Order: sequence, then structure tokens, then C-alpha cells
Amino acid sequence: MSGDHDFNVEHTKKKKVAFIGISSLMMLGMVVAVTIGIKDTGNGGKYNDDDDGLATSSKAARSVCHVVEHRHACERTLAHVHTSDPNKIVQTTFNAAVVKLEGALAKSSSIKVKKDDPRTAGALEACKEAMEYAIGDLKRSIDQMGHFDIRKRDECVENMRVWLSSSMTFLETCIDAFENTTGDAEEKMKSMLNGPRELTCNSMDVATELYTIFKSLKNTNTSQAHKRSRAEEKGKVNKEGEAQLWADLRERKLLHERGATMRADVIVSKDGSSKFKTITEALKEAPHIDANKVGTIVNKTFVIYIKEGTYEEDVRVEATMSNVMFIGDGPTKTIITGKKSFADGFALYKTATISIMGRKFIAKDIGFENSAGTIDFIFGNAAAVFQNTRLVIRKPLEDQDCVITAQGRLNIKGPTGFILQNCTIMADPLYYPLRHKNKAFLGQPRKKFSRTIILQSYLADSIDAEGWKQWSGTFAEDTCYFAEFENRGPGATLTGRAKWHGIKNISKHEADGFTPEKFYDGNRWIRPTVVPYIPGMVPK
Ligand SMILES: *[C@@H]1O[C@H](CO)[C@@H](O)[C@H](O)[C@H]1NC(C)=O
Ligand SMILES: *[C@@H]1O[C@H](CO)[C@@H](O)[C@H](O)[C@H]1NC(C)=O
Ligand SMILES: *[C@@H]1O[C@H](CO)[C@@H](O)[C@H](O)[C@H]1NC(C)=O
Ligand SMILES: *[C@@H]1O[C@H](CO)[C@@H](O)[C@H](O)[C@H]1NC(C)=O
Ligand SMILES: *[C@@H]1O[C@H](CO)[C@@H](O)[C@H](O)[C@H]1NC(C)=O
Repeated sequence: MSGDHDFNVEHTKKKKVAFIGISSLMMLGMVVAVTIGIKDTGNGGKYNDDDDGLATSSKAARSVCHVVEHRHACERTLAHVHTSDPNKIVQTTFNAAVVKLEGALAKSSSIKVKKDDPRTAGALEACKEAMEYAIGDLKRSIDQMGHFDIRKRDECVENMRVWLSSSMTFLETCIDAFENTTGDAEEKMKSMLNGPRELTCNSMDVATELYTIFKSLKNTNTSQAHKRSRAEEKGKVNKEGEAQLWADLRERKLLHERGATMRADVIVSKDGSSKFKTITEALKEAPHIDANKVGTIVNKTFVIYIKEGTYEEDVRVEATMSNVMFIGDGPTKTIITGKKSFADGFALYKTATISIMGRKFIAKDIGFENSAGTIDFIFGNAAAVFQNTRLVIRKPLEDQDCVITAQGRLNIKGPTGFILQNCTIMADPLYYPLRHKNKAFLGQPRKKFSRTIILQSYLADSIDAEGWKQWSGTFAEDTCYFAEFENRGPGATLTGRAKWHGIKNISKHEADGFTPEKFYDGNRWIRPTVVPYIPGMVPK
């Protein structure tokens, strides 16, 4: 299992800045020109800072607002932007979201909670924390834009999309924390966050526009600078890539010969034979990034080797911990079991056996189980691929159904989604006889743009013929993105499936786009860890 939310910010050396600075402006200049070319054809892609008198913002600025969901908010943000420098326009968009959010955070102190209402007080605390993280993610995006490296443009823009998605998720988490609280705190918080949520969403749309355009430019020679950077890129990939490949192979061999302990930063064991007895203690050793400090880098994977044993803890990989890897002794030997359950009254996101808020998390050879009996196996808003994972459906509480995934993508252009590839979905023997009473589903649209793809997996007959379950009435039936591709087993028959607009029949090409290499550039960040994984489709 691996999840990619976030990447390192690379600071370029001073010497290179001049060249990079100029070429990034050229590239971004083209971005706006292209946008104008589509939306504002009368101008032939040329624009200047003179205005036609209808609004005070530049044409370049206004053209950006054509691509966002909340257009009025965008126009208000850019109303007094006179520059045609696309980098500045993008940064202004991001900055506006930060300013609005910081305002909301300050204002949230005015929300009063009754002394005898710990639930609302807890929600308010959780919400403020989430807002701080959201601000941190936005600031990282601005910082990235300020250090835009043309040679790594795809990576830079992908970073921003991931941070912006994360920022949106934190704001959503903030509102979710108030579920079932009494009083008007939830309504107040919702109205305070309205503006910041719109502006964060717009920022994501703008970043996605850059991403789409860079991707489409990939194989065309558009400018001298572009040519040069591609040549540079290519030379680097050839030389370093090859060296890296050999290093990987050597290391992989070593890993095989000497066992995972060789590379672990810390070791956890139940029997006390190593320094840590719990995963939670070991995680404290992981390098933290300061949520409010932009540009902080975690450069190295922090490997926690968890020896055989059953660990009864609710593990939280915090947002400040990135590049953490768990390696166990095998899924039936190293087992993490949670303790909390929904029924105990914890907010949903705190009920998980393991919750991952940090980025670039990888887990291998570990079993996860929730002994308390929960509704969803895997939920949240992340870009996560589960490979060669066995998901065992266990007997739920009396009147519950079982749902494997409840993905929470919030923006139609957001980069997140759950991908289950070459997995096995099966029933526990105690559950199997109950499969018609307590039905099992592949997923549920937890949020409007929920996205889940079941790929090249084995589905046992315990999966209900409908396949997917409604969340609340017809909510998100049209906007979600659920797909099954090249699955096998009795549960993989598609004839009885629910017929929502959001349940897609995808092509091989589309399916390939959800494999680690294409979905989140896994070759860049997973390969260096030498963990074996499947980068593309499993050959038939
Ligand atoms: C909120 O209340 C509803 C209805 O009583 C219930 O179904 C749901 O589980 C509750 N949610 C939380 C987080 O307690
Ligand atoms: C792009 O440039 C390379 C070398 O600079 C050349 O071989 C190639 O044909 C060019 N492609 C296009 C589409 O112009
Ligand atoms: C990241 O790691 C590389 C290679 O290990 C090193 O050269 C570089 O200085 C590191 N960067 C930071 C910011 O620590
Ligand atoms: C896919 O899963 C099967 C077990 O279901 C396993 O035997 C096979 O090695 C996996 N394929 C890859 C490429 O890992
Ligand atoms: C999905 O599309 C393919 C062709 O793209 C078609 O052969 C197949 O029948 C379709 N499946 C369903 C369930 O509609």
C-alpha cells in the first residue's frame, strides 16, 4: 500500500535561477496564451495590461477565471491585478486563499462553546488544527510557485495539486468534525469557511490547468528554452537513471539477503528486544516537518521495521510526517489492530486502525484489522494504491453492510483516488453465511467526486451484484468515478451492477492511467525505496 500526497520542494542553486526564472515565465506565458487562445480568440493570444474598460483586471487575469469552479470569487480576487505575468496571477490566486483562511482561523476564536459540551469543544479544536495544516499546504504551493523549476515543471505542478487537494481535505475534515454536535458552532464554522473553501478550490483548478497544459506540451518543441530543458532532462535521466537502476538492483539483492532490518531506521518489537514496543513510540522518531514552515524538506524515507506480533494501537501518521515506510514480517505475522469503533462516539476520522495524514506513506508485509467492527475498510481523501493486498470482509455489527472503500475526493480535478490493483477481496468464514443479509460492496461515494478503481483483482462471490452502494439518496451518483477493469472471480460479474452515471466502463488506456507510474509518478518516489511494486498494468 502506498499513498502519495506530497513531495519535496527542491530549491534550485542560485547560479541557475536566472535561466530557470526566465524560462519558467516563458512556459507560463504560454499557458495563459493558450487559455486565451481558447477563451478569448479575438486577441490572437496577445495581451497587454491596458484594459478595455469593463473591468480593472488584466485580460490574462480574467482568462484564468474561465477555468475555475467559483468564477465570481476568482474575479473578485483578481479584480485589481494588472499584471500579465502568469506566475504572479497564479500566486495571487493562492495567496488570496491563505489570507481568507487566516482570517477565518482568527475569527473562529469568537465561537463560544458551552462548558458542558466536550464534543463541540473537541470538534472546534480539531477544526482549528486542520485549518493550520490547510494554511501550511497552501503556503507550500505558493513557495513552489516562487521557486518554479522549468526542468521539473510536471513535478512542481503535481506537488501543488497534491498540497491543494490536501488543503481542501483539511477544510472538509474541519466541517466533518462537527457532525452531530449541538448548538450553532457547526453553522458558524461553515459560513466562516465558505470563502476559503471556494478560493482553495479555485487554486486547485488553476494548478490543474497548468498541469494539463504541461502534459500536452510534453512532446512538442515549443520554444528554445523548452528544447534546452528537455535535452538537459534527457541527459540527466540517461546517466543518473542508469546508475540509479544498478544501485537499486544491488540494494534489492542486499535487502533480500540480509533481511529488512539492515535498512530500518527504527525497529519495533512486542518482546522488548528492540528499543520500541509500540509503533506510536517509534513514529515519534520520524523527522517532522513544521506545518507552518514552508519549504521544509524530508529527503529520505524513514523505515520502521515492525517485527512479528499483534499491535493493539490506533496508529496515526501525522500530517507532519512524510516519507514514512512500515515493513512487517508478513501480513499474518505483523498485525496492527485498532481499538476504537464508530459506536464509541469518536469522530469518523479518529476511528481508524491506521490513519495516514503524512505524505508518501508506504506499508508492506503488514496485516491491518479493526477488531471493533467498522463500516468502511478504507476511507478518506488520498491518492493511494493498494497492490497485492488481501481484503478480508468480516462480520459487521447486526444491521450493518460492509463497504470496502469510501473515497472522499472533493474537486473534480483533484488528484486523489483509491486504486486496488491485483488485490483479493474475500469473505471471512464467519461472515460468508451472512452475505445476503449484511451485504458487501466495493465502495460508496463519500464525497461528491469520490473516485475508486478496482483493477485486475480477484473478487469472491461475497460481493453484492450491485457492486456499489449509495451514500445518501442519490448523492454523487452522477459525479463520482467508480470503475472496474480486468477483474476476475465470481464477484467480478458486471451484469447486475448499479447503473449510475458515475459508474464508468473504462478503456485499457484509462485504466493504465491509474497505475502507480502514471497516477502518482511512483517511479520517482517509490522506486528509490527499493520496495518491489508493480509500476503499470499486470501483464495478462
Ligand atoms: C450522527 O447521528 C446519526 C443519526 O443519529 C448517526 O447515524 C451517525 O452515526 C452519527 N454520527 C456520528 C459521527 O456520531
Ligand atoms: C523536436 O526537436 C527535435 C530535436 O531538437 C527533433 O528531432 C524533432 O523532430 C522535433 N519535433 C517536432 C515535432 O518538431
Ligand atoms: C537530499 O539528499 C541528497 C542526496 O542524498 C543531498 O545531496 C541533498 O543535499 C539533500 N537535500 C537536503 C535539503 O537535505
Ligand atoms: C498478483 O497477485 C497474485 C496473487 O493473487 C500473485 O501471485 C502475483 O505474483 C501478483 N502479481 C504481481 C505482478 O505482483
Ligand atoms: C465496455 O466497453 C467495451 C468497449 O469499449 C465493450 O466491449 C463492453 O461491452 C462494455 N461493457 C459494458 C458493461 O458496457
